[in-house]
Amino acid sequence: MKTDTPQTIYLKDYTPPAWLVDTVDLDVSIEADGTVVSATQTLRRNPAVADQPLVLDGEELETLAVSVDGREHPYLASATSLTLNDLPASCTLRTVVRIQPDNNTRLSGMYRSKDGYFTQCEAQGFRRITWFMDRPDVMSTYTVTLHADRATFPVLLANGNPVASGDEANGRHWATWADPFRKPAYLFALVAGKLDVLRDTFRTASGREVQLAIYVEPGKLDQCPHAMAALKKSMKWDEERFGLECDLDHYMIVAVGDFNMGAMENKGLNIFNTKYVLARPDVATDVDFENIDRVVAHEYFHNWTGNRVTCRDWFQLSLKEGLTVFRDQEFGADLHNRQTARIREVRGLRAAQFPEDAGPMAHPIRPESFVEINNFYTATVYEKGAEVIRMIQTLIGRDAFRAGMDEYFRRHDGQAVTCEDFVAAMAAASGFDFTQFMRWYRQPGTPRIAADGFWDADSASYTLTLSQSNPRASDDAPYLIPVRVALFAADGRLLPGSERLLQLSASSQSFVFENVAEEPVPSLLRDFSAPVYLDFDDTPEQLTVLLAHESDPFNAWEAGQRLATRLILAASTEIAAGRTPVWPASFVDAARQLLQSHAERGAAFVAEALTLPGETTLAELISVVDPDALHAARNSLSRHLAEQLENEFAGLYASLTVSEAYTPSSEHAGRRALRNLCLSYLVEFDGEAVRELAFKQFREADNMTDQFAALAALANINAADCRQRDSALAEFYARWQDEALVVDKWLQVQSTSRRPDTLATVKALTAHPAFDLGNPNKIYALIRAFGANLVRFNAADGSGYAFMAEQILALHDRNPQVASRLARCFDRWKKFDAGRQAHAQAALRRVRDHQGLSRDVLEVVTRALG
Ligand code: TRP
Ligand code: ZN
Repeated sequence: MKTDTPQTIYLKDYTPPAWLVDTVDLDVSIEADGTVVSATQTLRRNPAVADQPLVLDGEELETLAVSVDGREHPYLASATSLTLNDLPASCTLRTVVRIQPDNNTRLSGMYRSKDGYFTQCEAQGFRRITWFMDRPDVMSTYTVTLHADRATFPVLLANGNPVASGDEANGRHWATWADPFRKPAYLFALVAGKLDVLRDTFRTASGREVQLAIYVEPGKLDQCPHAMAALKKSMKWDEERFGLECDLDHYMIVAVGDFNMGAMENKGLNIFNTKYVLARPDVATDVDFENIDRVVAHEYFHNWTGNRVTCRDWFQLSLKEGLTVFRDQEFGADLHNRQTARIREVRGLRAAQFPEDAGPMAHPIRPESFVEINNFYTATVYEKGAEVIRMIQTLIGRDAFRAGMDEYFRRHDGQAVTCEDFVAAMAAASGFDFTQFMRWYRQPGTPRIAADGFWDADSASYTLTLSQSNPRASDDAPYLIPVRVALFAADGRLLPGSERLLQLSASSQSFVFENVAEEPVPSLLRDFSAPVYLDFDDTPEQLTVLLAHESDPFNAWEAGQRLATRLILAASTEIAAGRTPVWPASFVDAARQLLQSHAERGAAFVAEALTLPGETTLAELISVVDPDALHAARNSLSRHLAEQLENEFAGLYASLTVSEAYTPSSEHAGRRALRNLCLSYLVEFDGEAVRELAFKQFREADNMTDQFAALAALANINAADCRQRDSALAEFYARWQDEALVVDKWLQVQSTSRRPDTLATVKALTAHPAFDLGNPNKIYALIRAFGANLVRFNAADGSGYAFMAEQILALHDRNPQVASRLARCFDRWKKFDAGRQAHAQAALRRVRDHQGLSRDVLEVVTRALG
């Protein structure tokens, strides 16, 4: 088979649909030799568009019948389209197709998983179920009838409300569901399976009762209450913060173990990766609990931002995703800990989005072209998109932002719209001019701000000059950038009146602060007010002042990260040159003060502040990365802190125990985070005593957070033999082999280990019965996590690259979406030395030149090589 030349789709080519579909009636019969889908659509010509034939999308459909208004009608079928000419201005089209969900390994469309049949239609999966205009601006009212064997598939679900159900011949049954809301096809879902259900109810602000249900694999009901609680909290939060009420009588969540992404917001019938539903203290970590809160909220929030108001076309993806991520971030911050939430968001942005924005897949949050839309469900569209929404709120204030949201729904409820429409509603409600701001939607790349400060003693004024640039942008026009600033005295006092929100709108601009009687310590980009790099020559003394005294916890944390970053980067250069790095006592002192202040500043904050910047984030700051030197430098600083602060770490480790029964509350989670961070420093001096300490924690922990932290500490021990490490890994697997999500943790702790033999371990694990190339979670845990292991994936001999190429080729046909995500591991190959580049290029070429390579992977490797 030859690869078709992949087509590039452009935003500028958008045209409205020539036909509209008012209603869709689906009859889905699950049978032994496939599933038969009869679809009846009532169609009418779009009055706003010139007459055109009806062209429907389809993929892997076996067409059994086509009729128009009850009569046969000629049609032209290709593998991916069905064309009908000479149709009346309005008509009823009926198609009957057979599909093979049991053979659907892509997990797009309708597919089989362990406990039944599930669907995933975003972005273009509906066309794998029936012939349809599979585009988000075609919105219809759906009625769905499912038929299946009653014993094997007792649960039959689709979007909306249950209308009727009954028995049929041969032990089969049926159920009809009607969704009262018009929706695009990507929000369609159905489920047929053997599932347990947890039920609850929610009373909305206006007094309607919503039936809630979470469906899971039989036997897992005891892992559902946290997700249910999260759902109810999300519903309440959206009422309080945005005045948005649930519009449905039934809200269902179904968890499935085989799923390409995190979760999907299908109207009234969310389908979730089990990873974001199932939790119990002994199997899920604090981070898992918090992620479940966030993802449950995210999908629920889509009901308004995505479903009631949807996207005109897939270029507008950030319209729903950036906004909904912003909303779930705000929910998480309100529910847990606002300070550390922001810190973690920025850590994530720098680890994933900044590299993406500097690499071959860089794109604006609203891309202008794509080959495969699935490749654009990215950190840029989601996380940078959320930063752009956050900047809008920062610029106009929370109240005007809320008014803008109200205006957005007033104008666009029930419509498929664009990013401009959203910003126009914000502008109308606030009076703010967003013309210049729109650049954030149109340009790729992370802008840089260079800052320079000048204090004039005579006039008691401080002049801050900010300049901006973005080498990845298509021109030099400036962005509008909100820069939150405050000035501090050398003793850490906040200078009164110095807290300001600056609007940087020119390429270079000066801002004057009056009545500054002493040389100030400026604190720039407080709360990370814009997703940019900041180049500022702050001194270690200034950063130490901010780390100790800045009242904005984000910038206090940031000061520590800037200090550590400079030290590690300098040490990396030293190590590369064969010298031993020397670490300043001031940094150790600052770290000691942080540890001592955990009661006042919060354990969660201190844990974040003492976590050194990650290697991937640091690598972005270097032009030619030596991953071994960088790794050695970062480890050397960890070890130095461990040596200098051993007593403090040991003391805190002993005193921070949580004696109460486990809850994932942010207070308890913070204490566990700091205590486990102490453990990770303590194991830096590998010795029998700390091995025993970690092993004891592993054995005695009554919760997964502590057990896993101990396992991770042991799995990172470099020594060739370590009895405790081997026992812990073996015991962990033996105990948890039947809990798929815990097995994922076991795989990931090995693939992310810094041990030099990690690739060999990962290779061996691909043959382990626990690994399964058909399950995305397993691939992400073992293969993609290895690809993010900077020092091991980028081994000088190219072995990591060769392994990844093999895995991509093993998977590309079976599951192109997941294979394409693996291909993204090569994004930064040009940042390394010539030897590594040669190996990476060879691996990429091997993938690119593979006959019949999937379009998803082809787009990524072509851009990487280009
Ligand atoms: N819209 C989903 C979300 O953000 C994302 C998603 C789920 C998705 N499954 C997918 C995107 C499959 C592409 C393909 O919550
Ligand atoms: Zn989403």
